[in-house]
Amino acid sequence: MRILLTGPTGQIGSELRRALPALGEVIAVDRAQMDLTDPKGIRKMMRSIGPDLVVNAAGYTDVDCAEREEELAHRINATAPGILAQEASRLGSAIIHYSTDYVFNGRATSPYTPKDEPDPINAYGRTKLAGEKAVSASGCASLIIRTSWVYGLRGSNFLS
Ligand SMILES: NC(=O)c1ccc[n+]([C@@H]2O[C@H](COP(=O)([O-])OP(=O)(O)OC[C@H]3O[C@@H](n4cnc5c(N)ncnc54)[C@H](OP(=O)(O)O)[C@@H]3O)[C@@H](O)[C@H]2O)c1
Repeated sequence: MRILLTGPTGQIGSELRRALPALGEVIAVDRAQMDLTDPKGIRKMMRSIGPDLVVNAAGYTDVDCAEREEELAHRINATAPGILAQEASRLGSAIIHYSTDYVFNGRATSPYTPKDEPDPINAYGRTKLAGEKAVSASGCASLIIRTSWVYGLRGSNFLS
């Protein structure tokens, strides 16, 4: 199985880069190889690699800066996952896409379920929800993970 991994320098991506080789051949593409703000470049890379599975661990993750740069965040968090998923659909492959609990408004008093209605209250959440919708709309087999705060040895997180 050929697995295309985006965001291999990030917190989640760097861990996946270590873990995924147990499942297949991992082709990790960083920003220099495939800039997610460049739709043409994404399509070209997807077509040249022809992965069986795309794992999209890249994203615009600076929640505060997204308020000032929503258009850029949208390109990376919404447009790019949509293109990855469209290309995956074309190839008959699948995509695993990382989303966030920021798609919710945070006012729930019990744990969220996948059936709860999203209601983002900030720019980051809006772009991530748009990304989920774009992936779903592609029609390709997809798994969308709405994780909360992650932590690890790299990057800026509540543990470090
Ligand atoms: N961190 C959390 O607590 C958390 C919580 C919920 C959901 N998530 C989601 O989980 C995913 C991964 O989060 P993370 O914390 O592991 O991210 P991260 O550490 O901030 O890393 C982001 C990754 O995306 C890449 N990237 C950013 N802009 C790019 C572009 N234009 N083209 C190509 N690559 C680009 C970065 O590359 P560079 O190294 O070149 O910048 C980096 O590899 C994201 O979708 C995020 O929304 C994270």
